Amino acid sequence: MGRLLFDAWMRSSFRFNGFFSAALFLGSLVPVFSQQVTASAHGVQAVDQGMTMQVTALREDVLRVRIWRGGTKPEDASWAVLPKARTSAVDVSATASGFHTQKLRVEIGAGLKLTVSDLDGHVLQEDASPIAWRGDGFRLYKKRAMDEHFFGLGDKPGPLDRGGQAFTMWNTDNFGWQESTDPIYKSIPFFIDFREGRAFGVLFDNTWRSFFDFGREDEHAYSFGAPNGPIDYYLMYGPEPKEVVSTYAWLTGPTPLPPLWALGFQQSRYSYYPEAEFMAIASRLRADKIPSDALYLDIDYQKNNIPFTVDPEKFPKFPEMVKELAKDKFHLVVITDLHIAKQAGVGYKPYDTGVAGDHFVKNPDGSTFVGPVWPGPSVFPDFTRAQTRKWWGTLYKEFASEGVAGFWNDMNEPAVFETPTKTMPDNIQHRIDEPGFVKRTTSHLEIHNVFGMENSRGTYEGLLALEPNVRPFVLTRASYAGGQRYASTWTGDNSSTWNHLRQTVPQIVNLGLSGFSMTGADVGGFAGSPSPELLTKWIEYAAFQPIDRDHAAKGTRAHEVWADGPEQEAIRKRYIEERYKLMPYLYTAAEETSRDGIPIMRPLFLEFPHATSDGHPMDLDTGGGEFLFGGRMLVAANPSPEEVNPYEVHLPPGTWFDYWTGERFERATKGQRLDLEQRDKLTQDKPLMITPKLDTLPVYVRGGSILPIAPLTQSTEEAPNGPLTLRIYLSSDASEPCAGEVYSDDGKSFAYRKGQFARVRFTCKIRPDGSMAVDAAQQEGSYTPWWKTYRIEVYGWTPKDRKVEVEGKVLELTQSGVAWAVEVGAERNGVSVALR
Ligand code: NOJ
Repeated sequence: MGRLLFDAWMRSSFRFNGFFSAALFLGSLVPVFSQQVTASAHGVQAVDQGMTMQVTALREDVLRVRIWRGGTKPEDASWAVLPKARTSAVDVSATASGFHTQKLRVEIGAGLKLTVSDLDGHVLQEDASPIAWRGDGFRLYKKRAMDEHFFGLGDKPGPLDRGGQAFTMWNTDNFGWQESTDPIYKSIPFFIDFREGRAFGVLFDNTWRSFFDFGREDEHAYSFGAPNGPIDYYLMYGPEPKEVVSTYAWLTGPTPLPPLWALGFQQSRYSYYPEAEFMAIASRLRADKIPSDALYLDIDYQKNNIPFTVDPEKFPKFPEMVKELAKDKFHLVVITDLHIAKQAGVGYKPYDTGVAGDHFVKNPDGSTFVGPVWPGPSVFPDFTRAQTRKWWGTLYKEFASEGVAGFWNDMNEPAVFETPTKTMPDNIQHRIDEPGFVKRTTSHLEIHNVFGMENSRGTYEGLLALEPNVRPFVLTRASYAGGQRYASTWTGDNSSTWNHLRQTVPQIVNLGLSGFSMTGADVGGFAGSPSPELLTKWIEYAAFQPIDRDHAAKGTRAHEVWADGPEQEAIRKRYIEERYKLMPYLYTAAEETSRDGIPIMRPLFLEFPHATSDGHPMDLDTGGGEFLFGGRMLVAANPSPEEVNPYEVHLPPGTWFDYWTGERFERATKGQRLDLEQRDKLTQDKPLMITPKLDTLPVYVRGGSILPIAPLTQSTEEAPNGPLTLRIYLSSDASEPCAGEVYSDDGKSFAYRKGQFARVRFTCKIRPDGSMAVDAAQQEGSYTPWWKTYRIEVYGWTPKDRKVEVEGKVLELTQSGVAWAVEVGAERNGVSVALR
């Protein structure tokens, strides 16, 4: 069936009640009770009407479901799921209709109807009707409750909660996408189902043009399917949403620890040239003391837009320039698109060596596919071949040896110009040659959604091969589930509008829930020109988002921090400076991601899943402007950032402090589930009313937190000079832990894997006599961090004697705004301080 025809079928076929229409399709497949169920050590296999369902317990809390027709099991291979996770298994206990693990119960009913529950009997997922087949296509229907919420699915625009909407997975270069545009650049077929405070996750590992419907067609069902490929999905049980996110990282790999500089401020534009103009940007950043770490060169640095070339007229001293930038503590990131210009016989190495190695994708007749992109007629590496990725990686040799620090893989959906589909034809041939896969040739329909991910993988692994002890920085536009292992990402060609500023929150949060922790949106918007106020506000938001990159399209007005005069510049600079001061906190959050997959930018329900009486995600009460920056800071952006009217800020239960002023707020204690009406009755729990101001972005800190903060630097290459400040925010609930930590290492290499890192955990406690104990535990790891002293700064507590005891000495506590402060030595063996 043609793709368009199939799409039309998928959209129109189920307009009626799901069950009715499924029966309509199945015709002779309407359940006849001839099912055979065979238990195995790790799960169960059931056969019915020539269809086989296999459910395997990979862990007590993770199931894998595979379904196929006919006798032959489909190939067991995945671009997304790590082999170690895919081949894991635990023993299960067989039951009459399925099995149970120590956390989950699986039942297979008539017609291979699958029900998965927790051991308390909460149904997590239940088939609504038998699988609907049409040719090679299929669709799975699951029952949906009206209070079920859906998150994830990568970069799809629109509200945070995916409920009530339908989506297609087909990586698409969608310049100027809007809130309702679908699909855009990435396909991350993973979602989190959240209901009554309980979460579980679903990864539908099918690379074809799959689709998801979260109750749009039928509010009582959600569904997913694909026009071809395997039925292969994973269920991850929480019940805490954080557990689901961590399990997804176990399945597909976490975002690795980035180089520290990637968390600095990044300045980009399409395109800075010539060299003198580009270097003037670098000089101005330093002259105006705008802390910054990375500068980008977009396609115009290349000769005629040809990847892996440098235009000597525009950039006459490229290698010297890279060195000069490095001297000034800047890292250069250059774009290297995947399309290779079809330039035969002119000594263009990427083309010549690519042809010699037979690395380009082919038409069905065996000729090389040629399509127009920036450099004109281009050819496309077949990234599904391990040897092609290896060859691709070698193309970075010169740039890497010159000291280029990062690489930007754009256009890798792949984008192809002058064609209505914006990409290569469906029948282009890919020759999969990859450990773990059967060596075979397949059509672009199967590979399209993983093409960009495998491009960025080629870059990442190639850079590692060239410089094994340097953490690569790759920025990719297209990707698939698991792509976070290789590259950071951004949300593509957004627009310079207030609505797009608002969109950054749900989009980056959903990407974080989908594995991509290192994400940003073009600051100021790509398409169009932002007003001075919009650019200022955007810079404020982005200071608290994982990647902070100012970027703009050709022909738009200047976007740099200084673009609108000293008044705007002063506000913008203050926010970027705050990001740099928070670098120890941010880097510690990035390091956490690299271990457990918990993203840097988080929705409120991830940390506070039980904040509401009926277990709905608290984020839905906030209007969509609130998000968490790491686990301890809450950014309360205006849900309608263009409005001047006051807006409501809902703080989760507990003690909160205004990050800027230290003012304290109390919200219903944890565990006390209050609905909005009850809350409204408690004056203390009324939402805060914030009058928007251009120079203020409300930020709050959770009581019980210890935030590590550094003296200001102009680049992450500069060692901060002065103490590591520990801002202690006390919770008024004494049973709340008071804790924090800091992580540090050389910021560049993999030495941390050999123990060369420093992690210090901090705790604090109020003693019965009202004094306060602050402890820094013995440092873990052998790295010597930059700080020699701690400045302890306490919020939400008043001393009696204004004295501090440390190591037998008595020091004075001094007042600093609403806080009390003291500086003490940062002994590596640990420090115990008593404040009274
Ligand atoms: C499209 C990318 O999304 C954009 O960021 C870039 O500036 C242009 N391509 C030019 O390379």
